[in-house]
Amino acid sequence: MSADKVRIRLEPLSVVVEVPRGEPLLSSISQLGFEFPCGGTGFCGGCKVRVLAGSVLVTEQDLSAFSPEELAHGWRLACQAHAETSIVLECVQWHMDVLTDDSGQSALKPGLRKHGLGIAIDLGTTTIAAQMLDLASGDILAVETDLNPQSAWGSDVMSRIRAALTGTDLTTIVRSKLQAIVLNLARGRELEIDEVVLVGNTVMHHLFAGLDVEPLSRAPFESALLGEQSFSPQELNWPLSSACRIRFLHCLGGFVGSDILAGIVAIGMPSADNLTALVDLGTNGEIAIGSRRGILCASTAAGPAFEAGTIRMGMRAVAGAISRVFYSNANMQATVIGDGEARGICGSGLVDAVAAGLQSGAILPSGRIANRTKIFPVCEPVVLDQADIRELQLAKAAIASGFRLLLKCLGASADDVQSIYLAGAFGNYVQIDSAIGIGLIEAPKTCIHAAGNAALRGAKALLLSKEESALPEIAHVSLAAEPNFQDEFVNCMTFPRMKHIPEAH
Ligand code: FES
Repeated sequence: MSADKVRIRLEPLSVVVEVPRGEPLLSSISQLGFEFPCGGTGFCGGCKVRVLAGSVLVTEQDLSAFSPEELAHGWRLACQAHAETSIVLECVQWHMDVLTDDSGQSALKPGLRKHGLGIAIDLGTTTIAAQMLDLASGDILAVETDLNPQSAWGSDVMSRIRAALTGTDLTTIVRSKLQAIVLNLARGRELEIDEVVLVGNTVMHHLFAGLDVEPLSRAPFESALLGEQSFSPQELNWPLSSACRIRFLHCLGGFVGSDILAGIVAIGMPSADNLTALVDLGTNGEIAIGSRRGILCASTAAGPAFEAGTIRMGMRAVAGAISRVFYSNANMQATVIGDGEARGICGSGLVDAVAAGLQSGAILPSGRIANRTKIFPVCEPVVLDQADIRELQLAKAAIASGFRLLLKCLGASADDVQSIYLAGAFGNYVQIDSAIGIGLIEAPKTCIHAAGNAALRGAKALLLSKEESALPEIAHVSLAAEPNFQDEFVNCMTFPRMKHIPEAH
């Protein structure tokens, strides 16, 4: 990039544009779909952004729109700002709903402590969800959600690893954000907090704890430092009682973190009589299957298709994204978030669209688009091309083959699984019919449930339990080392054949 250019990145969509230094944001970021509701007069406040990296000068209108504290935290009106340096901006109008969890004492069961407050935190790659609980009653007293500030250094764990390895202090960045969240939750009751329990994926675990992420950057992607990490408030510089324990729970292996451990607890797998499964559908797919007789878990590289990351017209589930697609009466119908013009398609819309394409015959079980143009129109102007569908095939094959292999390791079959819980944001929003339709999940619909934020729910259950034995024994399976891995993966690439669709085109 030449010296007279600067780069602007907008989160949480992670879209980037290069513009001449000093260019008004009003002209430079509207091309990325950012909207200026009042046309940039500075009165509506609809263009609020927060500067996550770089700097943006405070203007007269900013002084009227924001408090000194908000200005200090980087809040600006984009319509008044100029790009004097490369910047990363968090865009309020693109904020996603962060999944939390409403379950309190009744759902979390006993083992409750006698007094004090506790905080459970689900530290996700994109978002953070935290709740403060009364440890005696299990009642939720406060909830905080936010974007993970590390998002300024990329949306996936591999880009965070790269940033950390090139000297960015992502540990201090995330600890500072979590300190602010903890203080917002406590609001004057800091000294009553007995314990803070954090869960997250292996990279979040390592970055929070300040551990070396280099072993996670290369095959076989295994770190020797997967254990629980405990801290005193003094070590983190958090103004809590010195008796408070802060624990980031242990990872289960390779890329299976404590968010999956907590999810396993949340769905009751360790006490289940019959096989139960938890599937977290993300760039790194994680699967756990088991019962009270034993639990196996594994991770599988699904790639970013479920977040529409490598899809040509893919975008996150925010305004303008196609989130639902139906095929009925020989027509394709789509729902757009915010009811405006479609700008792209998010992960749940993608799964729906391909399921609808299979249903209509426009997409063949092999994944080929049946027409000559090799373009599958979803909803004007959004289309899928052949490469988009291949990306989804790879992602769904990674999950389906991982599931089959774990069942084989357990000596079980799909018929033995009583319940399958889909975790994470994508698992919560994907249409179960469509997930079955593309062969992502191979089970009857009645077995499949959305788990909500199972990681946060499990973290709360573990926080409320006095017993360390509440943590179940879980064995990690390295799928890549399984002899049938490649064959099973290839078998799972094809889509299920819809019975009423002609055999071939
Ligand atoms: S667009 Fe209305 S205040 Fe900026």
